Amino acid sequence: MDITTVTTTPFTDQRPGTSGLRKKVAVFRQPHYLENFVQSIYDALEGVEGQTLVVGGDGRYYNRPAIQTIVKMAAANGFGRVLVGRGGILSTPAASCVIRKQHAYGGIILSASHNPGGPDGDFGVKYNIGNGGPAPEKVTEAMFQRSKEITAYRTVEAPDIDLDTLREQRLGQMRVEIIDPVADYAALMEELFDFDAIHALFNSGLFHMRFDAMHAVTGPYALEILEQRLGAQPGTVMNGVPLEDFGGGHPDPNLTYAPELVEIMNGATAPDFGAASDGDGDRNMVLGRRFFVTPSDSLAILAANAKLAPGYAHGLAGIARSMPTSCAADRVAEALGIECYETPTGWKFFGNLLDAGKVTLCGEESFGTGSDHVREKDGLWAVLFWLNVIAKRQQAVEDIVREHWTRFGRNFYTRHDYEEVDSAAAQQMMTELRTRLATLPGQRHGDYVIDSADDFSYTDPIDHSVSSGQGLRILFAEGERIIFRLSGTGTAGATLRVYVESYELDPSRHHQDTQETLAPLIALADQLAGIRQRTGRDRPTVIT
Ligand code: G1P
Ligand code: ZN
Repeated sequence: MDITTVTTTPFTDQRPGTSGLRKKVAVFRQPHYLENFVQSIYDALEGVEGQTLVVGGDGRYYNRPAIQTIVKMAAANGFGRVLVGRGGILSTPAASCVIRKQHAYGGIILSASHNPGGPDGDFGVKYNIGNGGPAPEKVTEAMFQRSKEITAYRTVEAPDIDLDTLREQRLGQMRVEIIDPVADYAALMEELFDFDAIHALFNSGLFHMRFDAMHAVTGPYALEILEQRLGAQPGTVMNGVPLEDFGGGHPDPNLTYAPELVEIMNGATAPDFGAASDGDGDRNMVLGRRFFVTPSDSLAILAANAKLAPGYAHGLAGIARSMPTSCAADRVAEALGIECYETPTGWKFFGNLLDAGKVTLCGEESFGTGSDHVREKDGLWAVLFWLNVIAKRQQAVEDIVREHWTRFGRNFYTRHDYEEVDSAAAQQMMTELRTRLATLPGQRHGDYVIDSADDFSYTDPIDHSVSSGQGLRILFAEGERIIFRLSGTGTAGATLRVYVESYELDPSRHHQDTQETLAPLIALADQLAGIRQRTGRDRPTVIT
């Protein structure tokens, strides 16, 4: 098979962010754009000759043509074998699982996570290393540097491979295997959770659930695992067919973007348990009957109940949470006598801790929960973990959460997002607040006394790398926190995220409404940073 070298000129905007290179589809469709970036990935890797590469994506628009390009270029760059999920499908956690299980060199995941898809939507390319996790910054930086110098890329002239049949094909010297995207992942879930107990729960006829796959990648996974293997009633999985534009929706499992599920769970005949996952299957939302479980609480509750799941029966080595995630998990860690690590936002910061065996569970407030079973957050895993806990405790979701609060106290928590605000104004607001941080400690605002304030900086305990500028933190005397940070994943303007938290030990106050309870702190956040004045917005776009 002939290798063709195609002359090209660099693009200057191919710096991968925390979740890979994410751009509008139109940007990726420019001639040579995808090819340049893929060649930059291959050039940044060493010793790929004869190695195995895993390729798959969330099924969004442009997934299939991109896979053809990536596979042909892999053949021209010397890979020995490529494993592709059938139909080009692999959820992000399943890709991580396959990379690990098949001892692959790495993998390319095509996804823009929860961002809308379709010809006018977003697309993304992310490289994961051999441990199954996102490439660390030194690797993505090497890719970016390469992309700025690239003058040619290599590919092979060949007909498109058949993505839809489970079989082996050849591209020159390289083997292409189309694999069942669910098999390895489902087998891993069976090892971790008590499938018999969950099966009995569904079989009892007394327990019903709805899982909203949001027309995204988890449809086939949820159908196979929940309805086929665990015997959940047919129809448990809704929106289970992956569509290239996610049915026009915004595949982000939260109270704003999953209104269909939220309505069902708030209805008079709501099932016992509701859950949803995002575009690429790494996020999760968990709901009880007329009850929302915050992701921060979910992490804490799974940690407190971990021994009920066979995969975690021996206990947890430690827990990690991103800095803006509520401190609920810290209290569980304390009770268990284990460490709770506080990392910057982004899943990649958990990788070293997981690899070193320092933590077993980790999570973020942004609907991400996971463990050392893969190196990505994992939506369906979290749902199965909850099912395992419910099956063992034989309690309603709300009762499990309320008992948890009674034992550990409740962290009232909310996140306010101001999306697509003017970048310069947002930057300026942050800069000004940063310069005033040192003056804040000791200030009293109504009932609240500021204890300390800083710009969060993290030193990785394993490789000692330092990540600074990770968000402005204002910490109060009674455990309240206000945090400001700018999103690193948006594709238009800036997104300001404001995280507000308080702590309440008294069970008689646990029934209070979150927004009402936090209202004085929310007002204080605006007063301290001048959000309304700077952004020109009088309210957030999304409240979680
Ligand atoms: C957001 C979330 C963050 C998550 C990331 C990728 O990033 O806040 O927790 O890791 O998406 O899913 P942000 O837009 O805040 O930078
Ligand atoms: Zn995602």
